[in-house]
Amino acid sequence: MIIDFQGVSKRFKQGHQSIEVLKNLNLKVDREQTLAIVGESGSGKTTLLSIMAGLEVPSEGYCQILGKEFTKLNENEITEFRGKNMGIVFQSYYLVPYLTALENVLLPLEIIGQKSDEQLAMDLLAKVQLEHRYHHFFHELSGGEAQRVALARALIHRPSLILADEPSGNLDEKTGLQVMDLLFELIDSSKSTLILVTHNRSLANRCQRVVELKQGQLVDIK
Ligand SMILES: Nc1ncnc2c1ncn2[C@@H]1O[C@H](COP(=O)(O)OP(=O)(O)OP(=O)(O)O)[C@@H](O)[C@H]1O
Ligand SMILES: [Mg+2]
Repeated sequence: MIIDFQGVSKRFKQGHQSIEVLKNLNLKVDREQTLAIVGESGSGKTTLLSIMAGLEVPSEGYCQILGKEFTKLNENEITEFRGKNMGIVFQSYYLVPYLTALENVLLPLEIIGQKSDEQLAMDLLAKVQLEHRYHHFFHELSGGEAQRVALARALIHRPSLILADEPSGNLDEKTGLQVMDLLFELIDSSKSTLILVTHNRSLANRCQRVVELKQGQLVDIK
């Protein structure tokens, strides 16, 4: 099992008030599964994905990812674990501004100490239709282009777990479809597990399983 969450709750403090976004949530995901999480805006999807990435700490509960109990790791261990095993496409997970698109895509290999592979990085960027943007910096890219660079970066080291938060959110319909085709193709060939947050039901339905986040808990809808 790649994800095992039991009784996970997450509360945020807002002044004197505390809001409970996740309430005693349970989730088990097997290896190589593709799972879509849908739900209203503000229902807690990004919060849940952030806990899976080890970027947020749950208020309560048992969180195991790829055999590791996250709440028992320190920050350095989580960073290393995330770098090795996860590919992350978050809207707030920006590209490194002083690196070019190509250098950003190569970064995960450097972080985990693997041999650099410029050809592979260029191939991935070409697959997301950015062969004309290899040497552009973050501020020289449009929002959708930056998002595609982030996707290529998330996939280069063939991580076992890919966490994607609205990965086609900033893209026009045609580019969005092409980029999602690429994502599903690469997931198939590298036998990764995908957790995909999306508002797009037809995109969600491309996953084997779809759950809805509602009142802090997950309900199976496919
Ligand atoms: N750091 C924080 N402090 C306080 N409240 C927060 C914090 N992060 C998120 N929240 C609240 O938690 C709720 C869930 O937020 P989250 O970003 O997980 O929703 P979402 O399902 O991803 O929404 P969207 O579809 O709009 O992206 C929201 O009501 C939000 O205001
Ligand atoms: Mg969100």
